[in-house]
Amino acid sequence: MMRGWIVPPPKEPTKNEQKFRAEREQKVKALKKHGYLTSRRIEDAMLRVRREDFIPAPYRDYAYEEVPLPLPGEEATISCPHSYPLFYEPLGLDKGQRFLEVGLGSGYGTALAREIVGDDGLVVAIEIDPLTFRFARDNLKMAGYKDIVLVEGDGGMGYPEMSPYDKICVTAACKAVPSPLIEQLREGGRLIAPVMEKGIQNLVLLEKSGKAVKEKRICEVLYVSLRGEFGITP
Ligand SMILES: C[S@@+](CC[C@H](N)C(=O)[O-])C[C@H]1O[C@@H](n2cnc3c(N)ncnc32)[C@H](O)[C@@H]1O
Repeated sequence: MMRGWIVPPPKEPTKNEQKFRAEREQKVKALKKHGYLTSRRIEDAMLRVRREDFIPAPYRDYAYEEVPLPLPGEEATISCPHSYPLFYEPLGLDKGQRFLEVGLGSGYGTALAREIVGDDGLVVAIEIDPLTFRFARDNLKMAGYKDIVLVEGDGGMGYPEMSPYDKICVTAACKAVPSPLIEQLREGGRLIAPVMEKGIQNLVLLEKSGKAVKEKRICEVLYVSLRGEFGITP
């Protein structure tokens, strides 16, 4: 069991491509019906990217179930399917934008982002765990993504070499949003992150406007802890 979630038992994968495609289409319909998925670009990306290709074989059959699944590495998980539109819709992730993801995990969210920003955009993704990093890198390569900037290191420090970013997504829970990430956000840019407040995690959306940073709480969430310099877990 991961904290707060019950992981289904590992098993031999049995589903074929057709079955996965049907489940993917059903999932997108359900996410639209429940109001998570509202934009055409994110919908198209979720239909195009085969989530099952980013999941270790013993858990692959559960690809479209609403449960985070374990990945190689210390604490890594692929998040539930609904959490991608939950993060990307309020961010307003769209064509042509420069996007930074902290917490690459399986590479699935990264692939979705690549599809959404398109050829005129940029995707940079950082992972701190070397095993998880290699897993994601191989998944993305096998899925045919060649132009994503993958960085192994502490994402709390951001990646100033390619800043400023229009949008930043942090996929691990932090005590407070790391200051380098706010610095690397462009004027008018948005950042989304799970932030630990009074013992619970809130999904927080920040918008940078001059020296001010507007902040909005979206909902309660449950994510693995950010590691590194700004982490909950050092
Ligand atoms: C919930 S998982 C990410 C899920 C991912 N978005 C996906 O689609 O599979 C969070 C990830 O953040 C990573 N992580 C934790 N602290 C980090 C840090 N300081 N820098 C970069 N990655 C970090 C974890 O190792 C884990 O892989």
